[in-house]
Amino acid sequence: MAKITTSTLKDKKQRKEKISMLTAYDFSLASMVDAAGLDIILVGDSLGNVVLGYENTLAVTMDDMVHHTKAVVRGSKNAMVVSDLPFLSYHISIEESVRNAGRLIQEGGAQAVKLEGGVERVDHVKAILDAQIPVMGHIGLTPQSVNQFGGFKVQGKDLESARKIIEDAKALDAVGVFSIVLEGVPTKLAQKITEEVSVPTIGIGAGQYCDGQVLVINDMLGMFTGHIPKFVKKFANLQPLIIEALQQYKEEVEAGTFPAQEHGFTIQDEVLERLY
Ligand code: KIV
Repeated sequence: MAKITTSTLKDKKQRKEKISMLTAYDFSLASMVDAAGLDIILVGDSLGNVVLGYENTLAVTMDDMVHHTKAVVRGSKNAMVVSDLPFLSYHISIEESVRNAGRLIQEGGAQAVKLEGGVERVDHVKAILDAQIPVMGHIGLTPQSVNQFGGFKVQGKDLESARKIIEDAKALDAVGVFSIVLEGVPTKLAQKITEEVSVPTIGIGAGQYCDGQVLVINDMLGMFTGHIPKFVKKFANLQPLIIEALQQYKEEVEAGTFPAQEHGFTIQDEVLERLY
């Protein structure tokens, strides 16, 4: 299988083939996502919630993103790796936005970056694209805007906000992003946007008509103990299995049944005897 690129994704939209994307934050899980043949691995700033234990994504830093991106890239052979620009890394100046996007590519090894926002971010997106860095847009319920939205609320339900999301999608498409994540928007709005933009849309809580889907891996594997949004389907429920395995380990350590002989290493008696 060849490495997935922005052109692979464009072709998939044209052929009406769905695009699969999941987050990963470390080498082990990235290797599994890659082995499963998914198209895109997103090093999401959701690592703030599911890996670092923050309440939201706002505290995630560029150094966090570079660190986790490097690990994911080491685990990915074929999947395309996209890395999130965290809060405030692309808001202050165009120069800083390009420099930070460049770090995810040059230090982290990602193939592309993702950033949140539409019309208001177009100048920054253009400058990053001018630096030859592919950009994935992200609109709708953008988690970095949680304080402005007054919580994690579905966006685009009323006329004004639905219009704004369509404008955002069109502005990102026009400036040249290679794909747009639609998060937490009504299914029919996401369908309309998907039909109207030239690039693939990737939905999360945006219904079945998007060109692709993304989920946070810890949520869909049932490994996260915090709040799970309604749009998540648990494809596995690993948490009870993991806790059971850990309890068994504790019991065996306490009972002295682990490690057994086969888990140890041998030394020749002659060497032992000569020690004393
Ligand atoms: O950070 C993230 O995981 C994301 C996805 C949920 C789209 O942005």
